[in-house]
Amino acid sequence: MVRQGSETKARKDEHIAVCLSEDVACEYNYWDDVRLVHNPLPELNWDEIDLRAQFLGCKLDAPLIISAITGGTEKGRKINENLAAAASELQIGMGVGSQRPALEDRSAASSFGVLRDYDVPFKLANLGAPQLIKQKGKRPVSKSDVRAAVEMIGANAVALHMNYLQEVAQPEGDLNSRGCLAAIKSLSSEFRIVAKETGAGMTRETALALRKSGVAAIDVGGMGGTSFSAVEHYRAFMHNSPRLAQIGLTFWDWGIPTPVAVQQAKVGVPLIATGGMRSGLDAARGIALGASLAGFAGRVLKPACESRKAVIDAVGTIIAELEAAMLLTSSQSVAHLMGKKTVIAGRTAQWLDQL
Ligand SMILES: Cc1cc2nc3c(=O)[nH]c(=O)nc-3n(C[C@H](O)[C@H](O)[C@H](O)COP(=O)(O)O)c2cc1C
Repeated sequence: MVRQGSETKARKDEHIAVCLSEDVACEYNYWDDVRLVHNPLPELNWDEIDLRAQFLGCKLDAPLIISAITGGTEKGRKINENLAAAASELQIGMGVGSQRPALEDRSAASSFGVLRDYDVPFKLANLGAPQLIKQKGKRPVSKSDVRAAVEMIGANAVALHMNYLQEVAQPEGDLNSRGCLAAIKSLSSEFRIVAKETGAGMTRETALALRKSGVAAIDVGGMGGTSFSAVEHYRAFMHNSPRLAQIGLTFWDWGIPTPVAVQQAKVGVPLIATGGMRSGLDAARGIALGASLAGFAGRVLKPACESRKAVIDAVGTIIAELEAAMLLTSSQSVAHLMGKKTVIAGRTAQWLDQL
């Protein structure tokens, strides 16, 4: 058990190292295909722009969330602390990385629990959907594990991440997916669940099944930003596994582009648009398409490794860009921005035509 715990922790630090040293982005960012329509006379004062948002009953000062990245190690604790300090200062949401390492080895809990020291208005716990069911040689995550994950950070909701793209390309991948939806359904009756993809996107069919299973929200986690297939491609080299390195390369750009995933997932539950968000303009695009929050992971990783000030500067710029997009589209509030006209071009238009 402990051995498995230390392997999981090592994996988390390897993910960070790869993301910092290699280009792991998808080859095309689909947010560039989504255009908001300029208003030459917006008749709006910048000072009147209201960025406040509500998500699952929590009040945020801006419709943004720092998506799940890490935890479980000393490096993870420092990153989570810098992110939590910034999320508290700016009153935006924050998710932690998979808490499985802390369930396997309780000494890792403080690297997540550091969130308890900060007034983050929406805290999202995180566990893997594949680990809810039987996988080779592993015990499935139980309801009491989920309760422990919530308690660890004082969470407002629990993200169950779907990452089968990553699982097929990683040395220790959990490759069984039978019964995953039923497990999500069972937890949804007791916990506020956010069903979260991690970079391969969402279809209408799956979004409808998730809604039926009782999830409170969906993070569409679409393709276009960090590619976990790419991350595992580089990790496979570290582990001398040429076959997995090849699988990671082959599936580098696998998935449903984030703007398409947002359109697909509009089934009546609140949405988070994560995947390839680089700026406040991308966040505005996601909200205009119908997401309640925009989620950022790759964009804040480097600042998070530096300092809380670096994260506050990066997210402060994102907020200013979002306000600029709101002024230029004459959107006084987030509700006004949601549903604003968009023009969708290029590859994203092709996806929407054919799906
Ligand atoms: C280093 C790193 C580690 C991540 N770890 C997790 C994780 O433990 N759980 C999870 O749900 N998502 C995890 N993600 C996925 C992100 O939350 C997000 O869905 C994905 O990176 C796409 O967003 P991006 O393009 O803004 O990076 C991780 C992302 C990065 C960059």
